[in-house]
Parts: sequence; C-alpha cells; structure tokens
Amino acid sequence: MKRIRIGPEERVFVLTGAGVSAESGLKTFRDQGGLWEGHRVEDVATPEAWAENAARVWRFYSQRRRDALKAEPNVAHRSLAAMERALGERFFLCTQNVDDLHERAGSRRLVHMHGELFASRCEFSGAGMGAFACAAKPFHDEALYESDAAIARCACGGRIRPHIVWFGETPLKMNRIEREIAQATTMLVAGTSGAVYPAASFVNWAEPQARRIYIGPEEPANAGSFTQIVLGKAGEVLPELFEVG
Ligand code: OAD
Repeated sequence: MKRIRIGPEERVFVLTGAGVSAESGLKTFRDQGGLWEGHRVEDVATPEAWAENAARVWRFYSQRRRDALKAEPNVAHRSLAAMERALGERFFLCTQNVDDLHERAGSRRLVHMHGELFASRCEFSGAGMGAFACAAKPFHDEALYESDAAIARCACGGRIRPHIVWFGETPLKMNRIEREIAQATTMLVAGTSGAVYPAASFVNWAEPQARRIYIGPEEPANAGSFTQIVLGKAGEVLPELFEVG
C-alpha cells in the first residue's frame, strides 16, 4: 500500500460512520445482519415513531447503550486519535456514530453530527420547537428506559428522549463542520455507506484541489466523488496509510 504523506501545511477533515465501530463489535446499519434487520428504521429513529411508541424507541436505544458500554475502541479509533495528536489543530473529526468510542480512544477535536448515545434531553428542547421550546440542555445519561412508566420527565413535564438526530431532524454542529471542510486539504471518509445526507455530500463540499480518500471494505454509494478509494477494513488500513511529515 502506497503511503499518503500529510505535509506540514495540510489540514485533515475526517468523516466516520458505523463501519469504523464494526471491529469493536457494534453492528452497522445497512450491512448484512445490520441494525435495521430486526428493527425497521421507521419503527425507531423518527419523531413519528417517538410520538407513536416512545417506550419502543427507548428499548431500542437502551439496547444500543448496553452494546456500546461493553464495546472497546479498536485500532481505527486509536489511529485517528494518534493522527490528531500529530496534527493538533490541523485535524478535525466529524462522526455520524452516536457511540463514544472515538473519545474513549483519545479524540478531542470531534463533533457527533447525529447526536450521542449517552446523552438525553427533554423532548421539547432543541431545534424546531419554536415558541414552545424548553431551555433544558442535553445531559449525560447511561440509564436504560424499558417502559412508558420508566421514561424520566423534564421539569417542564416533557418526556426525556435520546439526544439522537432522527430522520427528518437537522444534524448538529453544521456551521462548525462547514468551516472545517472549507479549510481541509485532505478529506478522509471511513466506514460509511454514503447513503445518508447531508453527510454523504460533505465530500463534494471540499475545495476542488483537496484530496478525497475513502476507506472501507466496499465502495460507498458516492464513490465517484473520491479521488482515491482504499478497499479494506478501517482497522487494517488506517494504521498504515498515512505518514505525517
Ligand atoms: P451504514 O451501515 O450505512 O454503512 C456502514 C459502512 O461501513 C458500509 O459501507 C460498510 O461497507 C462499511 N464497513 C463495514 N465494516 C467496516 C470496517 N471494518 N471498516 C470500514 N468500513 C466498514 O452506516 P453509516 O453510513 O454510518 O444515522 O450510516 C449513516 C447514518 O445512517 C447513521 O449515522 C445513522 C443511520 O441511520 C442516525 O442514527 C441518525
């Protein structure tokens, strides 16, 4: 494998998806045997599903919490944390993953654009609530809620929901993400099928002269937007691919 050199003036923007946590034993969404096989996405990850059956939504995310608590960061997470230590402020990581394995591996300059598994918030807080918004902030939460009676309540009376961006909701930190992409000379995308927007279009937001590299065992849906595709598992490719100069 020919190594890619990151020069002293370069800035790297990384986008990760479920494939980066696959080697930690967490299921991906769309792979064979993936997360939606037993649970259809519309049954668990939409505001409509929450309105219809909040306990089912919470049982689903409670199981995800159990799985993530048992998982450990893998070589891919650790390689990205090492790249951040080498590049400092010239590195930025945006993850679609809601698990906390990147930060447990040591990543600090990162955002979770689809929310965080171990955070919860009032159902009336956040974007899109207008005049009815509750001002309560998201909070760290490892609790498991398995029934309607178990679901905690905010001081305003609203139910506590997962701090996850559901389909139809707006991803988080988009201004920061756009700023970082605009400055990047290398865009590295790993372990994501390129099927969910806006993340799938980030590669097209990079400056035209930026390198755009994809790492994963199969081509993503947006393969044509990359300048280089490296087929392989993130945990096997990432430790060898880059050399910081
Ligand atoms: P997907 O399940 O759509 O895609 C996972 C990708 O990881 C596939 O392209 C696999 O080929 C690849 N993959 C599998 N094992 C890998 C490995 N060891 N190394 C590298 N790649 C590997 O997951 P995402 O693209 O992350 O949103 O899904 C995007 C969003 O859709 C998620 O954030 C989630 C989901 O609905 C929310 O929860 C809001």
